[in-house]
Amino acid sequence: MIRVVVIGSRGQVGTCLVSQLTQRADVELFTFDRQELDITDSNSVTSCVESVQPHVIINAAAYTAVDKAEQDSQQCYAVNADAVENLAKAASKVDALMLHISTDYVFDGESGKPYTELDAENPQSVYGKSKLEGEQNIVAFCSRYAVLRTSWVFGEVGNNFVKTMLRLSSTRDEIGVVDDQVGSPTYAGDIARVLTTMMDKMLRSDDDLSGIYHYSGTPYVSWFQFAEEIFSNVASQIGSDKKMVVNPIPTHEYPTPAKRPPDTRLDCRKIEKVFSITPSLWQNALKNMKAFQE
Ligand SMILES: NC(=O)c1ccc[n+]([C@@H]2O[C@H](COP(=O)([O-])OP(=O)(O)OC[C@H]3O[C@@H](n4cnc5c(N)ncnc54)[C@H](OP(=O)(O)O)[C@@H]3O)[C@@H](O)[C@H]2O)c1
Repeated sequence: MIRVVVIGSRGQVGTCLVSQLTQRADVELFTFDRQELDITDSNSVTSCVESVQPHVIINAAAYTAVDKAEQDSQQCYAVNADAVENLAKAASKVDALMLHISTDYVFDGESGKPYTELDAENPQSVYGKSKLEGEQNIVAFCSRYAVLRTSWVFGEVGNNFVKTMLRLSSTRDEIGVVDDQVGSPTYAGDIARVLTTMMDKMLRSDDDLSGIYHYSGTPYVSWFQFAEEIFSNVASQIGSDKKMVVNPIPTHEYPTPAKRPPDTRLDCRKIEKVFSITPSLWQNALKNMKAFQE
């Protein structure tokens, strides 16, 4: 039996991890939401890891409110950087494989080409900086680990762009959506599947596959193109037959507290080479999404 701890079990990715891993007969699963384990409480984290003695820890917990983080940097760093250091040390102590999720926002988005794992980071927001520090803590303190950088996460549970668009459609007929920020929507269920695939291969492999990996959905799009796809697919499925008019706008017409990188396309060739994992079509996931929960 593989003892697996999932932290942040009620988040977008955490929920999918739990639903996928509970189906496995070879996994003994220990799940923790924020109420059950606040990762900023270092004593609780240490004693939890020491008592479970997991083979694998998957950290799906994070401070993900990108704009709020600009005013709340202390809490953001506490969750995304300091708590991750403590978690990494606890994982290392019990020789657990640590799987951690990070973000495309560690890049400044100015390179004009898809980012590889070798490209220099240069985060532009508190959130991005805190996540980069979290990654560095994993690399520094874990003996066996994978950091999975992903982007523009959406799923049935929690807050995301798809739900924001659908919510807006209930009160508006026309919206402007930014067309000069490019990246890749990524379905939370696909991220969970990628993490468990990596887990299985890393546990079996004689080679040390530890490292940073990029994974996002395909194809790359702008937020405007993503919104158009949402209204042509999901909206009809959930019974909204209203025709939304989506207009492309430049970033400066939609100012936000946190600076967003303009182009964070992730180059996913390393994960394909090492794990034979290829990017999924995010439109398929959009089409297959049936129900949304808060
Ligand atoms: N969302 C995106 O677009 C995106 C893009 C790129 C990368 N990522 C990364 O992907 C990972 C998963 O993101 P997600 O979208 O699934 O995030 P999410 O839905 O916001 O879930 C994060 C979870 O972490 C929990 N959490 C927050 N602070 C905590 C604490 N102190 N102790 C324990 N749990 C805590 C939250 O609980 P509460 O709800 O109770 O606060 C929430 O359940 C994160 O590492 C994120 O940085 C996300």
